[in-house]
Amino acid sequence: MMLPKVELHLHLEGAAPPGFIRGLAKEKHVDIGRIFDERGNYAFTGFRDFLKVYEAATSVLTTPEDYRRLTLAVLEESAASGVIYTEAFLSPDFCGGRDLAAWRDHLAAISEAAAEAERRDGIVMRGIVTPVRHFGPEKAKETAMCACETAGDRLVGFGLGGDENICKPRDFAWAFDAAREAGLRLTAHAGEWAGPESVRDTLRDLRVERIGHGVRAIEDPALVDELAERGIVLEVCPGSNVALGLYPSFRAHPIHRLRERGVKVTLSTDDPPFFHTTMEREYAMLAEAFDWDEGVFGTIARTSAEAAFCDEDTRKTILKRLESANA
Ligand code: ADE
Ligand code: ZN
Repeated sequence: MMLPKVELHLHLEGAAPPGFIRGLAKEKHVDIGRIFDERGNYAFTGFRDFLKVYEAATSVLTTPEDYRRLTLAVLEESAASGVIYTEAFLSPDFCGGRDLAAWRDHLAAISEAAAEAERRDGIVMRGIVTPVRHFGPEKAKETAMCACETAGDRLVGFGLGGDENICKPRDFAWAFDAAREAGLRLTAHAGEWAGPESVRDTLRDLRVERIGHGVRAIEDPALVDELAERGIVLEVCPGSNVALGLYPSFRAHPIHRLRERGVKVTLSTDDPPFFHTTMEREYAMLAEAFDWDEGVFGTIARTSAEAAFCDEDTRKTILKRLESANA
């Protein structure tokens, strides 16, 4: 039987099937350039190029209706991989250009699709508003205001993605403080394209409770101890790291060592079609690389449910569904 899974780190646009983007580009008669390989998959040469291709693909998503259809397509894929709860990164930058009224319309469309997917497939979705780091701190403030105005049952968190080597975490402190005051829970990408200092600075200056990736903490044993002691949760995306060349293979990935050292690790796909992955594939690759069994995956799913930014009733339901699958 397929194991039930909980995913905490999924970029909504990054989960767009390439065929969906191609179809939309055709419908709208827009030229998005050469972003696909001869087999129709997204093509890029490294992280910076990945970000460019990501933004080119996203440029065809222009209306709430596009996002409604995208959300339905993405959640269908996730559910097919056994995901019962997912947190999606949502970007007002792409959903209406940080205009509050436009963002409200996009979020309403995403939410409508999420409710439909929940009825159809039983998958539960919550959103995390995520400014794009390389768009700069001023835009992140506008994004934070969109997040603060729409915080609620569907929108539960605030994050930070994009190029980790642009700006410092403290440049985004205003946005994170505003989000925290609005009751949003916090996470940020760090320790992916920069080392342990980036993780330390992010924890100190943005006061997040989870870190997106965070895997390069492994380069500093004292930081690994600190993460374990403080119960900081890492949203680890091994397939993404391998596909983007951060590690040469799953076997070389630090997730196993981090786990052994007592760090709370969770498992996600990041941008699955870009990295030719699914939650099912992540599980299979890790089972093969580290001999992980159902017990390990069960613990990881429980850790993920406990670290989810949803309300307590939803968490209880998710934990129950995980439990009954183990029974
Ligand atoms: N946006 C989408 N995927 C990302 C990643 N892996 N790192 C940073 N920003 C991203
Ligand atoms: Zn990410």
